[in-house]
Amino acid sequence: WKTLDDMDLAGKVVLLRVDVNVPMEHGVVTDATRIEKIVPTVKDIQAKGGKVVLLAHFDRPKGKVVPEMSLGHVQAALAGALDCKVVFAADCIGPVAAEAIAAAAPGDVVLLENTRFHAGEEKNDPALARAMADLGDVFVNDAFSAAHRAHASTEGLARLLPAAAGRLMAAELKALEAALGQPQRPVVAVVGGAKVSTKLDLLGNLVSKVDHLVIGGGMANTFLVAQGIEVGKSLAERDMADTAREILAKAQAAGCTIHLPIDVVVAREFKAHAAHDTVAAAACPADAMILDAGPQTVAALEAVFASAKTLIWNGPLGAFELEPFDAATNAAARSVARLTRAGSLISVAGGGDTVAALNKAGAAEDFSFISTAGGAFLEWMEGKALPGVAALDV
Ligand code: 3PG
Repeated sequence: WKTLDDMDLAGKVVLLRVDVNVPMEHGVVTDATRIEKIVPTVKDIQAKGGKVVLLAHFDRPKGKVVPEMSLGHVQAALAGALDCKVVFAADCIGPVAAEAIAAAAPGDVVLLENTRFHAGEEKNDPALARAMADLGDVFVNDAFSAAHRAHASTEGLARLLPAAAGRLMAAELKALEAALGQPQRPVVAVVGGAKVSTKLDLLGNLVSKVDHLVIGGGMANTFLVAQGIEVGKSLAERDMADTAREILAKAQAAGCTIHLPIDVVVAREFKAHAAHDTVAAAACPADAMILDAGPQTVAALEAVFASAKTLIWNGPLGAFELEPFDAATNAAARSVARLTRAGSLISVAGGGDTVAALNKAGAAEDFSFISTAGGAFLEWMEGKALPGVAALDV
């Protein structure tokens, strides 16, 4: 794929697909990370003499106009982050959009209404992609986090105009390539979260790519059950035990070492500050549940991390939203942060929950790269081609 460096943008109208699907409460943006991350791309296009027209989705309006999901709600946050005038157009195609683009002064950014207000967006309708293409001269995709969707404004449009990856898209792809493409070995993947069933493809792909796979969170309980260990009232998918055993066998054949909890923190209630004990992983009482990994597990993980060159992380190691069951996630995250700061580890993390957990641990800033993507990060880790990226290559 091409980048902004390969494009002549002087005097061109640049349709820039971004992901500003940001958390919002009562119409106010509560976390502007995704907005801040697109600033370098917008500035670069402006510096090269292009007029920036933003295309984006917000939430899931399912082809209908839903006023609460209007991109008008992010206009002020965008203007603040970009430090320029942002003109809003109430449609992403047709005369309303065309007139706003024509009227915009040099240096203004035009923000078009939610692409998902049109049913053709999610269907990747060629007519909708054509109507968008008619508004501009070139297409730049900076929405890595929406690249797993083959939609009109991601995949369709890239096929109709000269297309390139924006700065954020290029940085995301470079970081992921460094982590799983041709990484420095040993490579460790940390995969946590509640359920094995939602991350089957991920685990299956990783065991053949990484040297160490750390399994944490509720998923680890399913693996303990698969090894004949009783886990009391813990969250575990008992019907996935055979699948877990297959993953263990596949890992062994591929030379990937799987790390499961050695000790665990157990409680009788799923709530913050519930009375708790630390026991061996095989000693969870019948009336208790595992809510976190224990200190011996953390010490073992720190040794694995210290021996590694590359680390990729998705999913918390315990019930990190409930104190003190965030302890293992925090300690492991801080250990990765320390090693990264010291220059001995390249660390990449992604996924909504994961980034929240790393932020809570105060570790996110020291990671080599934090992806803005949730679903797209997972699909990339699963080894799937992302349509929004693939279309940039044609
Ligand atoms: C995200 O928030 O992960 C992206 O914006 C994609 O959103 P979607 O899951 O609604 O397609």
